Amino acid sequence: MNPRLFSSLTLRSVSLPNRIVISPMSTYSSEDGFANDWHLVNYGKFAQSGAGMVMVETAAVSPDGRGTYGDLGLWSDDHVAPLARVAAFIRSQGSVPALQIGHSGRKGSMQRPWEGYGVLTDVEAARGEPAWQTVAPSAIAAADGWPEPMEMSRRELEEVALAWEAAARRAADAGFDVLEVHCAHGYLLHEFLSPVANQRSDEYGGDATRRMAYPLEIVKRVRAVWPAEKPLMCRVSSVDGVEGGYDIEDTVAFARELKALGVDVVDCSSGGISGFATVSSRLPRTYGHQVPYAARVRAGAGISTMAVGLIINAQQAEEVLEGEQADLIGIGREALHNPNWALHARHELGQDTFDGWPAPYGWWLAKRARLIKSMDEAGVPRPVGHQHVY
Ligand SMILES: Cc1cc2nc3c(=O)[nH]c(=O)nc-3n(C[C@H](O)[C@H](O)[C@H](O)COP(=O)(O)O)c2cc1C
Repeated sequence: MNPRLFSSLTLRSVSLPNRIVISPMSTYSSEDGFANDWHLVNYGKFAQSGAGMVMVETAAVSPDGRGTYGDLGLWSDDHVAPLARVAAFIRSQGSVPALQIGHSGRKGSMQRPWEGYGVLTDVEAARGEPAWQTVAPSAIAAADGWPEPMEMSRRELEEVALAWEAAARRAADAGFDVLEVHCAHGYLLHEFLSPVANQRSDEYGGDATRRMAYPLEIVKRVRAVWPAEKPLMCRVSSVDGVEGGYDIEDTVAFARELKALGVDVVDCSSGGISGFATVSSRLPRTYGHQVPYAARVRAGAGISTMAVGLIINAQQAEEVLEGEQADLIGIGREALHNPNWALHARHELGQDTFDGWPAPYGWWLAKRARLIKSMDEAGVPRPVGHQHVY
């Protein structure tokens, strides 16, 4: 048996040992944007789980590009060394270290999710976390009760573009092999793409082509400073899923432009323009609900894609790859539930050895599997309750 999920993929000079990617998931656990031991252990654990690539959560390109005070950042050279430690450990475990960079736009200046996920109040200000002025293509809030953003001036557009470039350079300095530009979930670059958030009258607003102009400029400038031998990914919200928003064919057109600029993989998420991250009441949730977007972008733009979103088990992931709907499989919350998802996926797809497991685990588990087998054969009753699969 030769599952596609465990086949390698080469993008530019980087070879992923398999198709499993730990999807970027913010942990809101930094101070002043710095990675710390939490990040090392969190991403280290995923790297030990055998995923082909571990993508570190979005790092803000500027302080006001954070969503919350807990977000990672890459707006100064001092941020490089702690992230380099994380990247080096991921690589040491045979996984490819990747980083997403982003700017929250009008969805910044918020509380951490578990502290309320609302706007910053006097309580946070009293402990040194005051609200800040957010920026966006147009002065339109994400939803009622969200911060009122300021429309970005030409000077601010250029300043933010320079911040993206500098963050991309620092990501390379930190040793990441893959970089992803966050163009999704209602954050700054998605806001430019969507007519719901972008009502500018200059060359960055108007029809779909003009709304693409600023995100494409950012991608072009990032590509120019990101090493040519390293792959670049772009995460998109494939559809807005709200009244007046854009649709999948707009994303196919965007993906064609991304490809022309040297983007290697489009990571197909959806939603988020009008509220919390990916939430959109008009987008029904089913298992693998965003896979059709990855398939459409792949076929329509002739570019590799990553499918993500409620992909739960290995068989499901394998079918997406076999159906040529995507080239990579993003695993998000399922990895929070089971950090060893990728290791278990091997067994789900028929592997009966512990090859591919880190030796300090696999050697013992193989030995125990033999013991369990002999106990089963001797009729030793298994404990009542959940049964070991191996
Ligand atoms: C706690 C949490 C944090 C997330 N942070 C990010 C992020 O930093 N960048 C991003 O593009 N998506 C982020 N996402 C979205 C995930 O990457 C993923 O696309 C989403 O959870 C759907 O995949 P899943 O069903 O496998 O979890 C986050 C999701 C969760 C649950």
